[in-house]
Amino acid sequence: MQVEFLSVQEKVISILMSIISEWGDEIEDDIEAKSLLVEEIGFASIDFVQLAVAIEKEYDRKLGFQNLLMKDGAYVEDLSIQEVSNFVYKQINGLDDVQSDHEAGKTISKLSFIPDHEKVNESKLQQFKSIIKPLPVREGMLASKNPSAVFILSPPRSGSTLLRVMLAGSPQLFVPPELHLLSYNTMSQRKSGLDDEHSNHLLEGTIRALMQLRDWDAEYAREFVSGCEEKDLSCQQFYKLMQTTMGKRLLVDKTPSYAINLDILKRAETDFENAKYIHLLRHPCGTIRSYEESKLTRMMPLMSASDFNGRELAEMTWQSCHENILEFSEQIDSERILPVKYEDLVVNPEAEVHRICDFLQIEYHPEMINPYGDNQARMADGVEVASKMSGDLKFHLHSGIDSSAALRWQEFYSEDILGEITKNTARRCGYDLV
Ligand code: A3P
Repeated sequence: MQVEFLSVQEKVISILMSIISEWGDEIEDDIEAKSLLVEEIGFASIDFVQLAVAIEKEYDRKLGFQNLLMKDGAYVEDLSIQEVSNFVYKQINGLDDVQSDHEAGKTISKLSFIPDHEKVNESKLQQFKSIIKPLPVREGMLASKNPSAVFILSPPRSGSTLLRVMLAGSPQLFVPPELHLLSYNTMSQRKSGLDDEHSNHLLEGTIRALMQLRDWDAEYAREFVSGCEEKDLSCQQFYKLMQTTMGKRLLVDKTPSYAINLDILKRAETDFENAKYIHLLRHPCGTIRSYEESKLTRMMPLMSASDFNGRELAEMTWQSCHENILEFSEQIDSERILPVKYEDLVVNPEAEVHRICDFLQIEYHPEMINPYGDNQARMADGVEVASKMSGDLKFHLHSGIDSSAALRWQEFYSEDILGEITKNTARRCGYDLV
């Protein structure tokens, strides 16, 4: 049955009002269909995600907001309430004339050349590495090792949130949002390292994990974590505390920031018995494009204060993380690390998930290739709102595993823009570069 446009628009406005009321601001009474979400209502990108997730919940289906929010491969600057309502109306009624920009024949400017001296090179990389914070020294005796766990190792923007949520479809695994534990010695160090406006959402993963494991509400889980911080529990003990309540399930920690520092990766070996690792790979140009689009460096004050531009920072993050993972993999048994390419995962999910299950010695479960099956059970819902989930918010804008994402970067970049050093690492990661 056809749903009326006005009823859709009314629902969109009412959801919008409830989002605004959560901000604690006075609701302006001049909000109307043509009001612009960013310019007039004060939306930030995470609010778009919250609106999209709430609308999908209302209509109990995925609507593919990616098509509305992305134009020419970048987020749109602004949208009116009417545009959002119109999109929802068309999706719900199957009047699907939403074309991708590619199909619509829009011209996209592709970056195919940059002079050699502007490319990433060894000296830029050394400068970049000096920005990375060292892992604080650990004092005292080392506790005995925790039971085995699995770590997904990759730089940000490699499809790690998608992989996490796919794995969360297995009843034999416990796969919470980013935990950010391995990079700190103690819970209080972790709290002070992440407690600022750019990073405090990264503290949410442990809270969401405890809510799921112990069936606690957000407030209780928050208080419990604060208690651990006050007692200065070690992060290894905190892991153990989670591991002892997950029964036979295996913990999977996907936290992309670990790979930036080889010492952090080594911690997984000292703190866990026979840990296993999934080395998640993505073509450097795909990662760089995604990194730039997500404006990730804005969230990292140390990086945004550097003289490097966003593309250079993205390339050097890719390069350093993979170089570290490759070096780390040489120090452990090869049977404990499995390379998985994002491109294969999105093009051939079933085969890739079978391969991962064999590696982890768990059964294949069909729900693993249906990542949009159950947000709550897979902890893709955030502690209070989905837009605060520690991970990729774009995950919510897709409505299924999107194979077209694998090579989308080719519209924007040529491999010629990469530094020689990056190309070499990409070849070692199994990419055929010219
Ligand atoms: P793009 O920005 O190129 O689209 P991470 O979680 O490691 O930060 O990775 C983010 C990337 O995973 C983004 O890449 C995002 O779109 C992609 N991704 C998230 N959900 C996806 C899905 N359902 N299908 C394909 N790609 C997905």
